[in-house]
Amino acid sequence: LTANPKLKNIVLFGPPGVGKGTQAKLLKEKYNLVHISTGDVFRHHIKNKTKLGKLAQWYMDKGNLVPDEVTIKMLKAEVEKNIGSNGFIFDGFPRTELQARALDKFLAEKGEIVNGMVALEVPENILVERLLERGKTSGRPDDQDEAKIRNRFNEYSTKTEILKDYYQAQNKYFGINGVGTIHEITLRLSKIIDNL
Ligand code: AP5
Repeated sequence: LTANPKLKNIVLFGPPGVGKGTQAKLLKEKYNLVHISTGDVFRHHIKNKTKLGKLAQWYMDKGNLVPDEVTIKMLKAEVEKNIGSNGFIFDGFPRTELQARALDKFLAEKGEIVNGMVALEVPENILVERLLERGKTSGRPDDQDEAKIRNRFNEYSTKTEILKDYYQAQNKYFGINGVGTIHEITLRLSKIIDNL
């Protein structure tokens, strides 16, 4: 499979633990995209004890979404840092309809669009197992106990999942099976991305 030279902006989507971060790191190399993980940016701020980090931590430790106005401002700053790049792979953003609208507006100002949202689908019981396993070694507070993990799924189902309809209405939504080896899933994602 070869990279599409006209490729621009991809949203990698799905519930906690579905493999967004794992796949985004592989796809950014393959397609020469800038990978923006809003979770990773927040964790970087928390590590460096910035004002934004302290604010985000209060929400993230409970498994709640960080407020839209904070997240949108942070995302815009990350995009601005990388203007002129080939395109972006967004991992963990957008997560609400307000964020999706902000992203569209922001990209439109630069003459760009979201080319497609690719969603990974994995049964919830497998996701909980993956996150509890990762929590043993990653030190991520939001992976440490099942109640926090369940709250993250609740946030996803009440605020985020609806974005499938938002992108479906624009014929930009593609769902794939996220169970399999990491390599198999990269190939499934690539088949979609190559045709965008
Ligand atoms: P974020 O960091 O985005 O976490 P998440 O969505 O909960 O996703 P994860 O990082 O847990 O999972 P992933 O899908 O990336 O999977 P991964 O590849 O790591 O967000 C954290 C928090 O930040 C949020 O709760 C919120 O508070 C805040 N936040 C972030 N963005 C926000 C936004 N836009 N608005 C508001 N708040 C926001 O894989 C998971 C595990 O599975 C790993 O151990 C991996 O090795 C393993 N794995 C991966 N692929 C496979 C496979 N194929 N088979 C078996 N195991 C696999």
